[in-house]
Parts: sequence; structure tokens; C-alpha cells
Amino acid sequence: MKLKGIKKLTGEIKVPGDKSISHRSIIFGAISQGETKIDNILLSDDTLKTIQCFKDMGIEFDIDEENNRVNIKGKGLNGLREPKKPLDCGNSGTTMRLLAGLLVGQNFSSTLIGDSSLSKRPMDRIIIPLTKMGGNIKGAHNKYPPLEIEPSEKLNGITYELPVASAQVKSAILLASIYSQGESKIIEKKVTRDHTERMLDYFREKDFIGRQVYIPGDISSAAYFIVAASIIKDSSIVLKDIGVNPTRTGIIDVLKEMGANIEVKNVRIVNNEPIGDIYVSYAPLKGISVDEGLIGRLIDEIPILAVAAAFAEGTTTIRGAEELKFKESNRIEAIAKELSKMSVDISPLPDGLIIKGGNKLTPAKVNAHKDHRIAMALSIAALAIEGESEVIDSHWVNISYPDFYDIIFTI
Ligand code: S3P
Repeated sequence: MKLKGIKKLTGEIKVPGDKSISHRSIIFGAISQGETKIDNILLSDDTLKTIQCFKDMGIEFDIDEENNRVNIKGKGLNGLREPKKPLDCGNSGTTMRLLAGLLVGQNFSSTLIGDSSLSKRPMDRIIIPLTKMGGNIKGAHNKYPPLEIEPSEKLNGITYELPVASAQVKSAILLASIYSQGESKIIEKKVTRDHTERMLDYFREKDFIGRQVYIPGDISSAAYFIVAASIIKDSSIVLKDIGVNPTRTGIIDVLKEMGANIEVKNVRIVNNEPIGDIYVSYAPLKGISVDEGLIGRLIDEIPILAVAAAFAEGTTTIRGAEELKFKESNRIEAIAKELSKMSVDISPLPDGLIIKGGNKLTPAKVNAHKDHRIAMALSIAALAIEGESEVIDSHWVNISYPDFYDIIFTI
């Protein structure tokens, strides 16, 4: 995708439904009894993989792509049927890890497979606790996909302290615990997103009878435009109905500390999730040392935070983010390598990045590294640089934000 620098960003920008919450609404809708109606769902490559997995287990969906609505005919906690072929999770770690938790509790065999990127991502982090619960799950070299799951005699509750800060691991255990005997207790030393807990409570309230769910706008998608408006002079935008769950708003806190002009208004709770409107206008940014305690609350936003830091005066240091190496790409290496091509003074660290802001950036031909978040972060950098840049393999945005470039070209 070729992108030219723009003068400013103004008006209301629509971002799609939250990816994490969309996956969870599909899962809980499928295992509840009767109809679950989901509004503003994200229909992207990743969430369509989750839908297809449940179709392969006998669940029916009505999909209205134009209006981002999905109706699920849920079959109850024990209503899934054995899939006839491996369940394909594509590029989606959330699909694979959450479904693994759900599937260890079923009375049928299943196999979870993924694309070449997902096939290299660590699964021992879920295999270990799910096995401790009595689950029968094996991976290649006990670590990687494909995951082979067999029914087990019985699942037990578990008390488990998460060795890595991961909402996907926490969610896998929570989903398995629906099918296990006895209580489960999960201890997390660092905060991770709590959407599974909130949605589990929401569906449990009505004993897993189908429900109505509204998916808030994705703060991770909004983050690209929050940063764009913060770094491009004369910009002023509003992003309406965005999820502002405190486990996800680290990016707002960090950008504000850097001097950004961001206000969150009209906050209300919809199906257990806080939603608000975000107002952003241009402000000069300064480099900061990001508090390590915040990393879990902005883990997916670090590539776009690196872009903000490149346009800030002074040095930004990000530490405690080694998990970035295990995402859709090694995001530490990928963002450092590509932003360097745009003349950013950026150095990778084993657990983060150091960015010396203030250089005049230059347009460049950069690569998405088969990673939606790298593609979008680089595209925003391109919009803020005078001249024409090119993002190679930009189609990866389809993983979480299929309309990303349509929005950019209507700004
Ligand atoms: C997600 C959790 C995070 C995040 C991912 C989505 C989720 O991954 O990076 O994009 O929906 O639970 P980890 O659990 O691996 O940190």
C-alpha cells in the first residue's frame, strides 16, 4: 500500500468492534442455549476463523456482514459435536488458546491447527495448566501446534499462578473450569485483559441462556488514530463507543503522560464492559520511560506507541515487554527494523525498545512482517511523514481491521 503524508486528521472516525470481546461472544454464544444476538461484532479474518471452528462443531450462525451483526443458535454447554476435520485457527492465537481450554472439557476428540506464524507460537503455556487440570492435550514437541485433544475422564479445578502475563492462558483455564469439578483459582501478578471474566459473569447470570451482546469499538484499533491525531499537526478527532475497560487503556495513560491531548467522555457500562467516546487533538509529545507495570494494559499497542515516541521530543524507553517476541511476529525486531528505514533512531532490547525521538523522518518502503499491528503502525507513521511511503504486505490488516485503509482514504 502506497501512502502519502497528510496535512491533518479531523472528524469522527469509526473503528470496528473489539477483537478480543468478539471472539469471546462467539464462544459463549455457541455454548449457551438458544439465540445469542451480537451487535457491532468484528468480522475479520481472525474472528471468522472462530466462527468457522464452531460451524465445524455443528453450531449455526446468521451473519449480516453489512451491519456487523451475528446471531448464534447456541446448543448449550454440552451441545457441540465432534468436528470431522481439524479446526483451523488460521493466524489467531486467541482462537487456538481459548478453544483449547473449551475443548479439553468435551467428550470428543479434536485437533487445532494454525497458519505458519501460529504454528511457531508457544502453546506449552496452555498445555501445562490444562494438563494439570486433567485435560488430555498434546502439542508438537509438547510446545507447538497442532494441538491434539482427547476426552479425559474428569477435569479438576486448579489453583494456578500465571508464569506469563497472558489473558489467553487465563481464559483457557477459565473455559476449562466451566467443565471441571471443584473450584479454580487463577493468580496473576500482572494485570491482563479481563473480558472473559466479564462475559462469563454476563452469561452465567442467566444460566447460559442465549443473550444480547453489544461489542464496544476496539481500543487497539482506535489507538492507531489516537496516535495519528496526536502527532499530525492541526488534527482533532472523535472516536465513539470505544471499549475503555481499564485493563486495556494503558495506551491512553502513557500518551497522556507524554503530553497528548486525549479526553474520554460519556462512559457507561454495556453488558459488563465500560464504553466511552474518545476525543483527541494534536499536542507536542515528549519521550518518557514507560512504567513496566503498564505493559499488560497496552501490550498490543507497543508498535504504535513506538511510532508516537518517534515523533516525541526526547527518549522513550519500553521495558518488561519480552512477550512481544511471541506475537504474530517478533514485534520488537519488526518495528525496530522497519522504523529504522524511516530514519527513526530506535534500538531493540531483549525486553523492549529505546526510541530517541525528534529526528526528521523520511518516507520509505517498509514491510508488515505478516503482522496486522506492524502494518497499521507503519501506515500511521507514513501518514505523518512528508512524501510517499509504501507498506509491503499491508493486506495483513484484515486480521483485525479490514476497513483500515478505507478509513484512511476517506480522512
Ligand atoms: C488477547 C490477549 C493478548 C493479546 C492478544 C489478544 C486476548 O495475548 O496480545 O492480541 O484476546 O485474550 P496474550 O494473552 O498472549 O498476552
